[in-house]
Amino acid sequence: MKPFIAANWKLHKLPSEMDAWVKALHTALAGVDLERLELALCAPYTHLPALHEALRGGGVKLGAQDVSAHDQGAYTGEVSAAMLKDVGVHYVIVGHSERREYHREDDALVHAKVEAVLGSGLVPILCVGEKLGEREAGQAEAVTLQQLEAALAGLTIKTADGLVVAYEPVWAIGTGKTATDSDAQAMCGSVRGKLRELMPDLADDVRVLYGGSMKGDNAGGLLAQPDVNGGLVGSASLDAASLAEIAAAC
Ligand code: PGA
Repeated sequence: MKPFIAANWKLHKLPSEMDAWVKALHTALAGVDLERLELALCAPYTHLPALHEALRGGGVKLGAQDVSAHDQGAYTGEVSAAMLKDVGVHYVIVGHSERREYHREDDALVHAKVEAVLGSGLVPILCVGEKLGEREAGQAEAVTLQQLEAALAGLTIKTADGLVVAYEPVWAIGTGKTATDSDAQAMCGSVRGKLRELMPDLADDVRVLYGGSMKGDNAGGLLAQPDVNGGLVGSASLDAASLAEIAAAC
């Protein structure tokens, strides 16, 4: 399986700053064999059409960070999966812990968003993961697998590359604290185990990413784990050279 590195810019960078970043990325990737991995950039909605042009032909796919659960209608401020597809988006992050925490997204809404993304033929990057208190209470696995099951219940995933799951322990996101290689493997392995129950024919080929303070200097160890098939990269992706370091570690 090719490792998959997805950058998540979150609420950073202006559209006018994108071109310089894309140029810097291509320069920094000069020595990296892009055949060995897949790269995507998940950017704010405002950036997507221009970013689609800027990334064209460069081997980096386009992703969004969220989506409406609705297809169309009177939902002021929302952006549908079909709209994302129309401007060249391939991946959509769904259920990021920052959406769950600051925008009160619950399991039902995450499920509806995954369904909307699949319905438009886009690929969800479904985020799951426990908070620090849940880990300390010994509930990391139970919480994570419950989120996974709730998000996917009743949905049909047709091909293994039609779904990406990102295990992101909340306590590691943006904190500089990374899960150990073995913790990341244990949890990504548990995610894989649950996927085997939910979609036995596809589970072994679904990409399971680790996310949470992945950087150039820890990516190699994390990505060497058998059930870690890539990374969802926030802070380090803001600097093109740092993202390229992670790509080089694949
Ligand atoms: P981080 O973010 O790399 O800054 O920890 C990862 C994420 O939230 O996707």
